[in-house]
Amino acid sequence: MRAYEVVDTNADNIGGCGLCGNKSANNLGHRRKTNWLKERYAEGLRYKVLRSGKFGDIGMIEYALGNHAWRPVEAEGYVVIHCLWVYGKHKGKGLGSLLLESCLEDARKSNCRGVAVVTSSDSLMAGSDLFIKAGFVSADRIIGSSEASVAPYELLVKKLEKTAPDPRFIVERERVLKRYKKGLTILAADQCPYVAKSAERIAEASRTLGLEPRVVRVGNAKASRELPTPYGVFSIIYDGKLIAHRPISATRFMSIMRRNAEQGAGANAGEREAVAVANERRGRAPRHRSS
Ligand SMILES: CC(C)(COP(=O)(O)OP(=O)(O)OC[C@H]1O[C@@H](n2cnc3c(N)ncnc32)[C@H](O)[C@@H]1OP(=O)(O)O)[C@@H](O)C(=O)NCCC(=O)NCCS
Repeated sequence: MRAYEVVDTNADNIGGCGLCGNKSANNLGHRRKTNWLKERYAEGLRYKVLRSGKFGDIGMIEYALGNHAWRPVEAEGYVVIHCLWVYGKHKGKGLGSLLLESCLEDARKSNCRGVAVVTSSDSLMAGSDLFIKAGFVSADRIIGSSEASVAPYELLVKKLEKTAPDPRFIVERERVLKRYKKGLTILAADQCPYVAKSAERIAEASRTLGLEPRVVRVGNAKASRELPTPYGVFSIIYDGKLIAHRPISATRFMSIMRRNAEQGAGANAGEREAVAVANERRGRAPRHRSS
C-alpha cells in the first residue's frame, strides 16, 4: 500500500470508513451520516477519505454540486466543498492540498464553473489559507456578530469558467427566525456527524431549565441552505432569536441561556425603571408589581 491514498467512497464501501474523525460506527451521528451519504451519492456528492497505510483514515473531503449543496450559498454550476479536514498530527504535510487537488481535478473533468467553499476561523470549518494558496479568491463574506457568537465567514471561489457569475451567500435569517418565535428549537441536519450528539445534549440540558425543546431534522439541501446561519446544517433558536449557529456543547448552551436570562432581566428592569420615571413625570405614583 502507498503511504497515502485518496479513496472515493460509495454506498458499498462507506460502511468501512472512518467518518470525519469519528471511528465508532455505533454512534448515532455516524449512523445517520452514513445513511445520509448513501442517499446523496446519486446526486453527485463525493466523500473522499484520506487513507494512510500506517494510521488508517486520517482526513476527508466532501463536496456537492451547487444545487445540492447543504451550505447556505447560491452556486449554480459550481462544486461546493462542504468539509475539508486533515486530522490532528497529520496536518502540515501537504495532505490537505492533496485532497483539495483531487476535488479540483473532478471539477475540471466535469466542466463545472469552478469550486466554492465556505471558510472561517471558527471551529468545525476550514480556514481560508490553504484555499488562497491554491488560487481561490473571495466572492462574498458575512461579517461576524456577537449575537450567537457568529465568527466572520468568507465564501471563496476558484473559477474554471472566467465569466461565470460569482457564487454568493444566501442566509435567510429573518424569514426562518419568524417561524420559530416561541420556545426552543434545534434545527439539525445529518450532514455533520457531530450534530446528533450536540442536539441530544442541548435538548437534555434545556429540560433542566424547564423547557420542552423542539428538534427539527433538516431533511433536504434546500432547507439546509435556508437556515439562519452561514454554517448551514445546524441552528438553535430561542424565542425567535438565533442563539447558536453551529453545533455547541451543553456547557456552552447553558452559559448562553444564562447570559440571555441576565440580559432579559436587565432589559425588564430597565423597562420597569423607564415606566416609573415616566409615571413620576406625569405625577402618578409608581406601580409596584408583586412578582
Ligand atoms: C485546513 C486543513 C485541511 C489544511 O490541511 P493540511 O494537511 O495541514 O494542509 P497542507 O499540509 O496541505 O498545507 C498546510 C501547510 O503545510 C505546508 N506543506 C505542504 N506540504 C508540506 C510538506 N510535505 N511538509 C511540510 N509542510 C508542507 C503548506 O505549504 C502549508 O503551509 P502554510 O502553513 O504556510 O500555509 C487542516 O488544517 C484542517 O483540517 N483544519 C481543520 C479544518 C476543520 O475543522 N474541518 C472540519 C470541516 S467539517
